[in-house]
Amino acid sequence: MSRDKSWQDLIAVDALEPGDVTPATLGSRDLAVFDASDGLFVSMARCTHGAANLCDGHFDGRFIECPLHQGLFDVCDGSARAAPARVPLRMIPARVRDGMVQVLL
Ligand code: FES
Repeated sequence: MSRDKSWQDLIAVDALEPGDVTPATLGSRDLAVFDASDGLFVSMARCTHGAANLCDGHFDGRFIECPLHQGLFDVCDGSARAAPARVPLRMIPARVRDGMVQVLL
């Protein structure tokens, strides 16, 4: 039997790096919270090409550059935009409620 997804508190909005990427964990999951030009987005923190943590990469408000091989992802939809990254990031539905970033997991 599968468990229904539910909204869960992840991190306070006040704890985010303005305009940047902030690491957050939920249980055993490492997540990346992007304070992007178009809003807040959350993805799994690991690059889909290797095991690099994207929270250590360069974020310009829309694209996150992997710190290991410089693969590029669009955080609005997770799409891979530059080699060697080819597999999209897994994006996690997110919203803000009562000053908290919540994710649907
Ligand atoms: Fe991210 Fe290779 S580990 S591009």
